[in-house]
Amino acid sequence: MAYSLVHASSFIDPSLFIGSVEDRVVVLVIGSGGREHALCYALKRSPSCDAVFCAPGNAGISNSGDATCISDLDISDSSAVISFCHKWGVGLVVVGPEAPLVAGLSNDLVKAGIPSFGPSSEAAALEGSKNFMKNLCDKYGIPTAKYQTFTDPAAAKQYIQEQGAPIVIKADGLAAGKGVIVAMTLDEAYEAVDLMLVKGAFGSAGSQVIVEEFLEGEEASFFALVDGENAIPLESAQDHKRVGDGDTGPNTGGMGAYSPAPIITEELQSLVMKSIIIPTVKGMAAEGCRFVGVLYAGLMIEKKSGLPKLIEYNVRFGDPECQVSH
Ligand code: AMP
Ligand code: GLY
Repeated sequence: MAYSLVHASSFIDPSLFIGSVEDRVVVLVIGSGGREHALCYALKRSPSCDAVFCAPGNAGISNSGDATCISDLDISDSSAVISFCHKWGVGLVVVGPEAPLVAGLSNDLVKAGIPSFGPSSEAAALEGSKNFMKNLCDKYGIPTAKYQTFTDPAAAKQYIQEQGAPIVIKADGLAAGKGVIVAMTLDEAYEAVDLMLVKGAFGSAGSQVIVEEFLEGEEASFFALVDGENAIPLESAQDHKRVGDGDTGPNTGGMGAYSPAPIITEELQSLVMKSIIIPTVKGMAAEGCRFVGVLYAGLMIEKKSGLPKLIEYNVRFGDPECQVSH
């Protein structure tokens, strides 16, 4: 069974963390996008939620009355977030974006005794390091594009020449959605290598690059709710990636979204759970970094075989995908 995303965010039911619906909990949502607004909207309507804060939030959240925005709380400063939680009796923190998760906000909150929805920094490496993600796929037989990782530009270019174009070059670390270059020619691929490894365009995030097989097919976003050992699928979605109408112009983080993704049939959903999500959750537990939170798989449904391959992992809800309701 699958659930729609806004509906799904009510799965972050505070009573799961505090034991009883009678003990209504004050929740702090971290982030400032449409995704965080959708989370505030759902939490505000949960019977087990007392009050909702959002830091830093945005004008839309503030105007809607779905949460009280704390625009001056520095979400990159764990001790400031913890002090805020103590001062206002926050009993659950829901972390929206990846950067604070990768930086370890959940680790710090849990250490301070504050329940947090979102993975530890160790588990968030699934998004924070593409090399970590690809190694996990290798070790646990999870279908993904064939790849090699490089720090030496000459070695990367030699591999590219052997493989041919089109080919995909990726910065290892977080690069705000800009660290992936789909090169249609060898020259574009060499340029991408130079951009990352020689010119340092993405700083330390690009000091290691992944050179990856180009996959052809249709993309879909797949979400699962994970408790460290088990996973249940949420409803699928697809976002409009290109900036312009009619799928034109450069790629973006998503100009809008719809749900469900018609390409994710029930059979495909089972296959994605069996071949991608469950082996990842089990593999992460075996590696000693249990994943807790929303695991968001960017999939390519390959044109030739119709089978799903993992393009990337995100360790959070999608934005804009989180906003699409049923
Ligand atoms: P990522 O940040 O890894 O999701 O990549 C951004 C976008 O680049 C994806 O949404 C795809 O459109 C494209 N992309 C990434 N990897 C591949 C690949 N191996 N083959 C084809 N397209 C890809
Ligand atoms: N819409 C893409 C993302 O949330 O990463």
